[in-house]
Amino acid sequence: MTCFCLPFRRKRSCPRSQSTELDEEVSDIQNVNIYTYKELHIATEGFSSSNKIGEGGFGSVYKGKLRNNTLAAIKVLSSDSRQGVREFLTEIKVITSIEHENLVKLYGCCVEGKHRILVYGYLENNSLAQTLLGGGHSSIQFSWHLRRNICIGVARGLTFLHEEVRPHIIHRDIKASNILLDKDLKPIISDFGLARLISPNLSHITTLVAGTAGYLAPEYAIRNQVTRKSDVYSFGVLLLEIVSGRNNTNRRLPAEEQYLVARAWNLYEAGELERLVDAFPDGDVNIEEACRFCKIGLLCTQDSPKLRPSMSTVLDMLIGETDVHGENVERPGLLFEFVDGHDQGKQKMKAEVENSSFIGGSGKQQDSNSSETVTSYGTMTFTSIYDRSN
Ligand SMILES: Nc1ncnc2c1ncn2[C@@H]1O[C@H](COP(=O)(O)OP(=O)(O)O)[C@@H](O)[C@H]1O
Ligand SMILES: [Mg+2]
Repeated sequence: MTCFCLPFRRKRSCPRSQSTELDEEVSDIQNVNIYTYKELHIATEGFSSSNKIGEGGFGSVYKGKLRNNTLAAIKVLSSDSRQGVREFLTEIKVITSIEHENLVKLYGCCVEGKHRILVYGYLENNSLAQTLLGGGHSSIQFSWHLRRNICIGVARGLTFLHEEVRPHIIHRDIKASNILLDKDLKPIISDFGLARLISPNLSHITTLVAGTAGYLAPEYAIRNQVTRKSDVYSFGVLLLEIVSGRNNTNRRLPAEEQYLVARAWNLYEAGELERLVDAFPDGDVNIEEACRFCKIGLLCTQDSPKLRPSMSTVLDMLIGETDVHGENVERPGLLFEFVDGHDQGKQKMKAEVENSSFIGGSGKQQDSNSSETVTSYGTMTFTSIYDRSN
């Protein structure tokens, strides 16, 4: 349970005094570990490139060893992610107070001068993006049993954020690289709460920078409409990725297979959903359950947010407490990507896709002459193509 209104007081990780300005700003902040820049500098050996473990939309992430010998993932927020110290710490306070076995632990932060750094518990087994979807560079055997547990664990963490934390938290960036695995391969959701900390728009979504908008609910990408149901959409895409063992977008595949959600829908309609399921050693997969998970993925990615189940219902469906057999699945919503020279702020949609199939006409247009490449979007369902830019 989270409470914004109680006055809180800072808990220092280090008794040394901070700057006067900071002391004034945070004099009544409680229960937030404040790390000095110097101690994080030491922990990461000067933020050395050998300790750098990743780079995302929020900034760079370093592995570090804290003074108590605990390993940490130290996230240096990029320079455009500025907000006042008080607002920053208020958000940090909320994130720090949230504890769940499927959510990453935020140890504390550093707010010195221009520095904004977050210190997280370190997860030993990397992210799903680097392991399951990383193109065979991982030694982890993703058995069906393990994948099932990962899907259910992520659903539990998200249900907690959506329905048990007060006020509820919308993650906004559920994707394979934000699902980390601990030493026992338990899934841990990272980066929750950060969207509010950084910016109200889409600028933190690295999938855009990386060139695929595959996890974004259409209404979020186009109208910036953020609800818990936009997280449900992203979870649905992730679910399909985990079961199929492939990325949501793969332009090396034949046209009709490039978009995972479209592929899933086509196979569902053909009554061949089992073809979406990854290859497992003989007998290692419960194919009926895997197909059920795929159907749940399609329910989560329905075009209309109202048709998507809540996360607690998704969880009940995954563990078999709610039957999905009779659930009606409609055509999912899918976002196609356009790259053009428009002003990103307007996010003007140019959905002038001619044909009414998901596949074939992906709508991707590359303007190689544009020096300033920005992204706008088109979506369509099979049945309708319409301008949603207003
Ligand atoms: N708590 C953590 N423990 C271990 N590795 C982490 C942790 N947090 C982030 N990482 C690594 O750093 C990478 C970059 O993280 P991030 O900045 O959140 O970007 P993104 O989520 O877009 O990949 C992640 O993909 C992951 O490999
Ligand atoms: Mg991340």
